[in-house]
Amino acid sequence: MGIFGFILTDRLIPNIKEYTLRKGICGKDLGKRGTDLADKPVPEALGIVSGAVFIVCLIFCLVGYATSHPSKLLDVNSALLSILFMLFLGFTDDVLDWPWRYKLILPTIASLPLLCCYNGSTSIVVPIPCRALLIQSQEMTILGKFVSWFIEIDVASNGSLVDVGLFYFLYMGMLAVFCTNAINIYAGINGLEAGQSYVIGCAILLHNFIEIKAQSLSQENHLFSAMIMISFVAVTLGLLKHNWYPANVFVGDTFCYFAGMTFAVVGILGHFSKTLLLFFIPQIMNFLWSVPQLFKIVPCPRHRLPGFNPSTGLMEPSTFECKSNEYIWLKTLNRLDHKTERIPNMTVINMALSIVGPMSERNLCSLLLGLQLICCGFGFFMRYYIAGFFFDS
Ligand code: UD1
Ligand code: MG
Repeated sequence: MGIFGFILTDRLIPNIKEYTLRKGICGKDLGKRGTDLADKPVPEALGIVSGAVFIVCLIFCLVGYATSHPSKLLDVNSALLSILFMLFLGFTDDVLDWPWRYKLILPTIASLPLLCCYNGSTSIVVPIPCRALLIQSQEMTILGKFVSWFIEIDVASNGSLVDVGLFYFLYMGMLAVFCTNAINIYAGINGLEAGQSYVIGCAILLHNFIEIKAQSLSQENHLFSAMIMISFVAVTLGLLKHNWYPANVFVGDTFCYFAGMTFAVVGILGHFSKTLLLFFIPQIMNFLWSVPQLFKIVPCPRHRLPGFNPSTGLMEPSTFECKSNEYIWLKTLNRLDHKTERIPNMTVINMALSIVGPMSERNLCSLLLGLQLICCGFGFFMRYYIAGFFFDS
């Protein structure tokens, strides 16, 4: 299915991009300002091709899975429903440009089919050093008594398991919203959206293979996740080929949303959401650094992608205008002298440019994908080495 997915996506994109162009679903490449390429419309939302091919692959997988693992059919169907809804939502966003609040509400709704059929545990494993403390505090303090109304500590397990009940569902819903939006706001240069998804997808696949090989208790869940991820990684590579610098097509919000939802789906149904978050370190950093702009504490321009300097041919951090009363809290962090009123947009992409200096769009993308790779490696180190000190194997 993976090979089929890659070839089909790769072949279809050049055809379908003519259709999106004809309907005016296209954008200007803002990273080419001042060059010959600046006015050429680039077909947008081609994530719809990879998404549709991915769904086709999943449906075929489902047919095979139905005969070998009939009890897991509910999982596959709910996964399909959630991913399809996000694909649809992403495409409508590319065509209609939804306001921000929709981008938060709709993924929450999209995750409901998934949450409804989640039949795994809602307990979290407490790190070894905290267990004794937890049991003591629950018996002794008023706060402990208050907390125990909401969560249930499994005393038989010596405090190693805590059933957080509904909070677990809240966490999973928020994970879906986070994954979908985190990829979308860590974007804006050729190849970054598809590239980061490809690297994360490969890391998840490797994690699945390790767990399957080790014949762990959750082997079945990892098999399920690997089945989804192989098709995903393949179609993403097909898309990346056309989106790599200089981009022939843009992936659009269509791709960002369905990719994010796919990660959330495998993380939730595969029961490895904490490991998943370890692979999302650059996206988490980007989100945290973006919070002041996202929540309008300081102004947020429509586009925060880095600026292109036609005289040098290099990308430089883009800036936004900030009134002195708005950036007062930034000044207290000692980040600004009192005169400046233009400060770099708060994204990891601009931060990388500020640290390393101006560079070409292609090198910038390679650098950020290198960072993604290092963070995934760090994720594996945390999961397979450090976690052993805090959790039972
Ligand atoms: C998000 C970001 C925005 C960033 C944009 C770029 C936030 C809150 N929003 O907005 O800052 O500028 O993504 O994807 O962080 N484009 C390029 N080169 C690329 C990819 C995109 O120039 O490699 C431009 C094109 O003009 C394209 C447009 O970005 O048409 C797509 O932007 P869109 O995905 O609609 O922006 P948002 O997701 O709303
Ligand atoms: Mg976008």
